Amino acid sequence: MGQTVDLYSRFEVRDLSEKDFAELSTCARDGRIWAFDPAADGVSPSGFAAWVENARCDHIEHGHRIVVIRDTLLNRAVGTSRFVPTRDPKEIEIGATWLGVGWWGSGCHERAKRWMIESTLNCAGIERIRFVVDVLNIRATTAIVKIGARHVALLKGDRVCRDGRSRDVNVFVLDRSTWYDDAKSRLMARISEKGDQPTPSALEVAAKEKRYSIVEIPPQATHDIRQDVLRPGQPRERIDYPEDGNSGALHIGVVIRGCIVGVASFYTETAPANEMGEADIRLRGMAVRHDLQQLGIGRALLQSAIERLRATGARGIWCNARTSAASYYAKLGFIQFGEEFSLADIGMHRRMYFDLQGPNMPRPTSTRQGAY
Ligand SMILES: CC(C)(COP(=O)(O)OP(=O)(O)OC[C@H]1O[C@@H](n2cnc3c(N)ncnc32)[C@H](O)[C@@H]1OP(=O)(O)O)[C@@H](O)C(=O)NCCC(=O)NCCS
Repeated sequence: MGQTVDLYSRFEVRDLSEKDFAELSTCARDGRIWAFDPAADGVSPSGFAAWVENARCDHIEHGHRIVVIRDTLLNRAVGTSRFVPTRDPKEIEIGATWLGVGWWGSGCHERAKRWMIESTLNCAGIERIRFVVDVLNIRATTAIVKIGARHVALLKGDRVCRDGRSRDVNVFVLDRSTWYDDAKSRLMARISEKGDQPTPSALEVAAKEKRYSIVEIPPQATHDIRQDVLRPGQPRERIDYPEDGNSGALHIGVVIRGCIVGVASFYTETAPANEMGEADIRLRGMAVRHDLQQLGIGRALLQSAIERLRATGARGIWCNARTSAASYYAKLGFIQFGEEFSLADIGMHRRMYFDLQGPNMPRPTSTRQGAY
């Protein structure tokens, strides 16, 4: 392929390359992605390195063409898929697809599949596409049946999995005629019915099941939530912080069903007046979508940021916390410094500090269903 293909503006695919691995590894950190993968578990850094090694080997030795699926809104890799040659020259297998959990249910998967099927059937001599799915993988089986593929075989003991289980797989086939007569238009209808915005209740369910990815995002991707939650009614330019483009600025987003639902930004900036020891990272713009607050998203975001910042050798995080949110920071292990003060147009604040060299965040006290 060697070129980028637009999957209806928001998503695109291109051949996988070395520069995608760092972004993919942050999307891969959820065991649910790897539950049915017989060979890899990309959650840990070493597990992800093994996935990369397998991918390289399958590409070079077995002719797999591996693509990366990208989210152009967030300018990052979010998953991968493969075209795998089979013994039958008229058939190609599409498989080993995975997406960061935050993009499950976003329409990204259907769009990528639609493009992969179409481009395979456009190859001269290819008559059908094969899908091989673990019998226990209900989610993937449902998706393949919805595409219109027909079941052709059950293979017992296809492979031995990481947990020692002997894997049984279902084999499905999608013929050229089925695709062009019926399946393609049904898939296109499903994509457009779904639209681009999940319902608030779908987001809430996913949030309670912690079906999110926590990833670096471009500064512009923080703006909508900053505006809605932190500065409603204020001029748009006030949500574009001057330090957003600083080198070393880190913007983190929580993504659910492809939507950004929580954001925070971190800048290299020493705390004023040395009152907080050696705090060298300033936190700004911490916010979670109104309808998804109090579900553990803020905690998960800060936990992830703390892990990243610790890995850089940073010493401490400080922020000017709204007094209304000071207890939130305190519950996560931040300590208050100095007196309360007022900031124009926003209200009362307290300066808070988290020691990155100290203990981890305290555990949640809440027993609410779905939280954490
Ligand atoms: C403050 C905010 C970022 C927290 O995110 P969240 O996803 O709602 O918080 P979580 O559900 O992860 O809460 C973590 C803990 O803090 C508590 N908490 C959350 N918000 C709180 C608040 N405003 N006051 C007191 N405690 C709070 C939770 O009950 C939870 O306690 P637990 O660990 O004992 O169960 C979010 O509520 C928000 O955007 N608020 C409006 C904007 C704002 O004030 N931002 C901070 C600017 S300085």
